[in-house]
Amino acid sequence: MLNVSGIAKRYGRQVVLDDVTWAVSDGARVGLTGPNGAGKSTLLRIIAGEVEPDRGTVALPRGARVGYLPQHILGTSGVTVRRHALAAFADLHELEARRASLEHALATVAPESEEYPAVMERYRAVCDEWDHSGRYDTEAEAEAVLAGLGFRASDMERDCGELSGGWQMRAALAQLLLRRPDFLLLDEPTNYLDLEARTWLEEFLVAYPGTLIMVAHDRYFLDVTVDHIAEVLHGRVTDYPMNYSRYLAEREERLAQARKAYEDQKAEIGRIDAFIHRFRYQASKAALVQSRVKQLEKMDRLPPPDGHERTLRIRLPEAARSGRAVVQLEGARKRFGEVRVYDGADVLIERGQRVALVGPNGAGKTTLLKMLAGVLPLDGGERRVGQNVALGYFAQDHAEMLDPERTALEEVMGAASIETAPHVRSLLGAFLFSGDAVEKRTAVLSGGERSRLALAKLLVEPSNCLLLDEPTNHLDLTAKEVLLEALLAYKGTLVLVAHDRYLLDRLPTQVIEVGGGKAVRYLGNYEDYLRAKASAAAVATAPRGARAAGPVRASR
Ligand SMILES: Nc1ncnc2c1ncn2[C@@H]1O[C@H](COP(=O)(O)OP(=O)(O)OP(=O)(O)O)[C@@H](O)[C@H]1O
Ligand SMILES: [Mg+2]
Repeated sequence: MLNVSGIAKRYGRQVVLDDVTWAVSDGARVGLTGPNGAGKSTLLRIIAGEVEPDRGTVALPRGARVGYLPQHILGTSGVTVRRHALAAFADLHELEARRASLEHALATVAPESEEYPAVMERYRAVCDEWDHSGRYDTEAEAEAVLAGLGFRASDMERDCGELSGGWQMRAALAQLLLRRPDFLLLDEPTNYLDLEARTWLEEFLVAYPGTLIMVAHDRYFLDVTVDHIAEVLHGRVTDYPMNYSRYLAEREERLAQARKAYEDQKAEIGRIDAFIHRFRYQASKAALVQSRVKQLEKMDRLPPPDGHERTLRIRLPEAARSGRAVVQLEGARKRFGEVRVYDGADVLIERGQRVALVGPNGAGKTTLLKMLAGVLPLDGGERRVGQNVALGYFAQDHAEMLDPERTALEEVMGAASIETAPHVRSLLGAFLFSGDAVEKRTAVLSGGERSRLALAKLLVEPSNCLLLDEPTNHLDLTAKEVLLEALLAYKGTLVLVAHDRYLLDRLPTQVIEVGGGKAVRYLGNYEDYLRAKASAAAVATAPRGARAAGPVRASR
């Protein structure tokens, strides 16, 4: 059992956690949700012992091991991917070493000697402990987890320091999962995972024997992995013993009830007020008026229900219309060392299209986007940009590129021109940075706040073609919806890398699948693309006779 009681935490004048009392039973699977900046990461850090609360206590079972994956990791270097993962077994390896030395001792100490029984005893204890761990082939186990998270055999001996931020996160996650802590705390583990790795992680977590507490904003992922939701809001935690979809519905219902109760009470107060005003000078009614006044004083005033909170407002500034062919790659070639990522790819992005780039791990989605954006030079072939094209590029690690020493205001000011600079504060306001918040250093911002800031930076200058690499990472549900709406309303051209089904099902008008050095185009959204793939696969695997039997129905 994990018991959190009376936890409070503030930063400056901002009260992040007000009074959190919360219990999590052993083996529970809990999704921690709530809007960006609500304090989810702060709570996890407090439980993990990385941040001291101002007040309150955290109680864990004696000897319980807690493992924590932060939202932003500090990468390691000077160690290979394999070694890094195997470090999870440090305790076990130490046990192994002890067993080996005791074996050696048993072989050298004479059986009839006085010390022999004691050595034997110690040897047995070590063997028992070893058996109890039930983990014999640590190398294989490490390889399986690394492979599940998308590492290829050729990556195993690479230095962690060479990896991109997203891959360092995967390396850290692999080590943590291998350690098998009793309490596994994961802060948005899916942000840098593609669909394959995400699916693997889903299965791993479903089978995980310990207690799981995880922050995520992804409905599909949460519905599979957790059956319990804890919502962080206004400095408190509320438990919802149900899955995420049911929680969303339940929250709507509670909100509707709270709104009704609030409105009913307001009406009641209005009626009493009117009565008091009407009869306050009539002596005959004095007693009645007095009792109404008392009634008002005694009434427990309901707070205005949630939903009155400010929400993100985004309007994407649009530049004048571009030419019909927006960006084009012809015979594009790109290689990294030995790996040929593109070997003569042709891609044409036309005005008004909304294109999603999909493909397995390491297929080169980000690479293609960078080549389209012109931030990564081609090794061969040509890149052409159409007339009047104003590109806006949002990099995957954009939020990590923020200068930790600068304030939010300084960051956006740095990206603005003389014309747009006067609007920066109101732009930041639309992204929910107001008052004091614009003066925060980017280093202390929450994940979602950083992403918002990076988006705000992108949007200070108008564009007619946006190239977005995982723009919804770290954004909460509302922010995601608002961004989706803004992107749907955007008349410019859009090229997108995303792993979020929420976006993928709604946004694209076509899908470009990359892999094997090529880029293949499919019309329609992600669902259509999956269907097309499924029928192609069914045709390919169907027995000969069945193949002629007309169109194959997709399984979804
Ligand atoms: N060291 C700090 N100094 C000042 N403010 C901080 C500090 N750490 C966190 N905050 C603020 O506390 C609030 C809560 O942050 P936290 O990271 O816990 O949010 P979160 O719920 O995890 O949000 P997200 O969904 O965006 O990750 C944020 O507004 C953040 O800016
Ligand atoms: Mg967070």
